[in-house]
Order: sequence, then structure tokens, then C-alpha cells
Amino acid sequence: MDFSKVLQCRQSTRHFLPEQISREQLEKLLDAANRAPVGSALYRDIHLTVVQDRQLLLQLCEAAWNRFSSAEKVREVAGEVVKKTPGMEKERKPDLFYGAPTVIFVSHRKQTLQPGIQWANVTSVVNQMHLAAADMGLGSCYMWGALESMRMLPEWDHTELLQLPEDFEPLLGLAVGYPAEELRPKETAHDPLSVNFIP
Ligand SMILES: Cc1cc2nc3c(=O)[nH]c(=O)nc-3n(C[C@H](O)[C@H](O)[C@H](O)COP(=O)(O)O)c2cc1C
Repeated sequence: MDFSKVLQCRQSTRHFLPEQISREQLEKLLDAANRAPVGSALYRDIHLTVVQDRQLLLQLCEAAWNRFSSAEKVREVAGEVVKKTPGMEKERKPDLFYGAPTVIFVSHRKQTLQPGIQWANVTSVVNQMHLAAADMGLGSCYMWGALESMRMLPEWDHTELLQLPEDFEPLLGLAVGYPAEELRPKETAHDPLSVNFIP
């Protein structure tokens, strides 16, 4: 796909078909991740986990289910996304991965050397895969909510299911699959970002 079309088609998919992506598509996503810019080229500080086990994914939702005790809480945490996801407020146990057959978690080595760079690094990797998915006509969506909920409610933290190397923590993920609705170029729904020009 032409790159400007990829940018126009890039969007968060929140309804996936159950059909699994192919091995070749998965390899392309992982290749895109490996081509992402990473601070100080510390690629060894990043770890990817490909999960294609729906049961495991639902277990990772448990912290969020316990956190979203009321519709008010759902609105507070999920903000604008609630409006785009019918039923989200009412569902007691929503699938935070929206039925995606594959989720790629991006973990980072715990570190204090450059505080905050781990967040920038995992975002760089996830965004690279998000764009590569759009290029292949696959739907994808950043996944923050489930992991944040596990950090907020340690008693429901199932990070161990990801079998991470020692000293790594999962910070972000990307849900991927065939979108229920084909990706089409879309207008930005928000006001343009504010910009100042100097001079
Ligand atoms: C860091 C980050 C975390 C996000 N986490 C989630 C998430 O957990 N669940 C979700 O449905 N969308 C998540 N999103 C997607 C945003 O809600 C989405 O990008 C925004 O609403 C704009 O919509 P668009 O991507 O369709 O243009 C996340 C996006 C970013 C950049």
C-alpha cells in the first residue's frame, strides 16, 4: 500500500473476526517491530510475547473487570473509547482485546538509567507494528488498559502468564487480526493538534 494511504487507513480496530492471521503476516509484524527506532539501540532491553490463546487473554482481563466496578469507572478509565465501543459500559466482563486472535505484548527491562525511555521505546515498537498491520489490511489496536489494570490491582496481576525473562515488565501490547469492517481511509475525527512555529 502507498505510505500515505497506510497513514490514512491507520485506525484502532475494536471488532475482530475470529480467523487467525497467517504465519507470514505475523513474521511481517515482527520484522516491523525489529526495524523500530529504540533509544541507544538497546534492543536487548525489549522483549515481545505473541499470545494466540484466547483463554489466557481473558485471564489478563480479570484485573480490569475488578477495576471497572461501575459504568462510571469504565467511563473514567476508557474515556472517549466508550463512545466507540457499544455495550462496553454495560458488559460486566468485556474482552479488552476485542476478540483479537493475536496480541503481541511488548515488555521492557526494568531500568533506572534513563527514566521514562522504556515507554517511548515500547511505543515506537508498537506503532511500527500498528502501521505494518494497516499496510496488510489487518486491524490492530494498542493495548494499554489490561496491563495498566494489572499494575493498579496487584492482587489480580497475571503477568506471570506471559513467561517473561527475568527483570522485564509488560508495558504495552498490540491486538491484531482481521477487522470486522475493512480498513478505509478516514478523516481525523479530532481538532488538529495545536502547533506553535518558532520564529
Ligand atoms: C499509548 C496508547 C494506548 C492505548 N491503549 C488503548 C487500549 O488499551 N484500548 C483501546 O481500545 N485503545 C487504546 N488506544 C487507542 C486510542 O484510543 C486511539 O488511538 C484513539 O482513540 C484514536 O483513534 P484511532 O486510533 O482510531 O485514530 C491506545 C492508544 C495509545 C497511543
